[in-house]
Amino acid sequence: MMKTRIIGTGSCLPKAVVTNDDLAKIMDTSDEWISSRTGIKKRHLAKEETTASMSVEAAKRALDNAGMTAEEIDLIILGTVSADYVTPACACEVQAALGAKNAVAFDVNAACSGFMFALNIANAYIQAGLYRTALILGAETLSKIVDWNDRSTCVLFGDGAGAAVVRGDEQYGLLAFDQGSDGTKGDVLACLGRTNNNPLIETDQETAYVHMDGQEVYKFAVTTVPASLQKTIEAAGLTPEDIDYYALHQANIRIIQSVSKRLHISEDKFPISLDHCGNISAASVPILLDEMNRGGLLKPGTKIAMSGFGGGLTWASAVLEW
Ligand code: UT7
Repeated sequence: MMKTRIIGTGSCLPKAVVTNDDLAKIMDTSDEWISSRTGIKKRHLAKEETTASMSVEAAKRALDNAGMTAEEIDLIILGTVSADYVTPACACEVQAALGAKNAVAFDVNAACSGFMFALNIANAYIQAGLYRTALILGAETLSKIVDWNDRSTCVLFGDGAGAAVVRGDEQYGLLAFDQGSDGTKGDVLACLGRTNNNPLIETDQETAYVHMDGQEVYKFAVTTVPASLQKTIEAAGLTPEDIDYYALHQANIRIIQSVSKRLHISEDKFPISLDHCGNISAASVPILLDEMNRGGLLKPGTKIAMSGFGGGLTWASAVLEW
């Protein structure tokens, strides 16, 4: 049975860096508050970059890392909640820019779980024998949908893109996954789109921004993520000790510390990128993976447990051998 193996990674962050001290100059906040509550020190914000331009750059780096050409890609799936257009999908923009003319391309909206959903969808296609090679991405320009007058959310998020090339492999790859959704709690992390607007009604639509009940999301994360990881690790026939690295969605260092405690696994096994890029929703996991890959942490057979969680609510975990 073919396994879905990650054979290359790439990422792209906008040039502009904004530190906590920079934010403290323009709003009522402090490095002390942001660092102690979240672990975030700085984030990259897009000026001339777009969700598509960062995705294309990350994809080129991932293809290069995999030693593959764009024509070899059968499928492009991109997780985002901040695409540049309502249509075409960002994945189609990536396809055009790369010249990946043999690929079918579409976006998935699963907020911070977007990359993990993309991975699991690509895995299902590969397992079914429909496609062999996929490019999966998570990409966000969250800075355009957060409310810069709401200090409780805007300090948390950043912009960026991450990509991975996956391919059916006889030896290594994805061993197990778990995913879920709870639409009844959708309102705890939401961003309204367009409201009805047609000749039958009068509208006075205001621009909508991300709204979050931080404590509810926090409670959801610290219970659901360890349970989902446990389930996935068990389904892979492993124990938490067998896992070499835990690559989690980078929302808050305290969530990661809590997961590490619940699984009784040392924090050393939980690499971090949120300190220098904040929470980039769907892009967090693939950017972290790329940093781990380029940092030399990953060797053939290295066991990784990954988990994404956030708006929807949604969550998704996977265990794989590199
Ligand atoms: O990608 C998945 C999505 N998100 C998450 O995973 C987020 C999960 N939640 C969290 O990480 C935390 O709930 C936060 C970091 C968002 C907030 O931490 P908290 O400990 O729950 O703080 P809080 O919202 O209860 O706010 C505590 C205080 C409030 O002041 P009062 O009412 O106690 O006087 C806030 O007004 O901190 C104040 N505050 C700030 N102060 C300085 C809120 N934001 C800021 C700020 N700077 N940026």
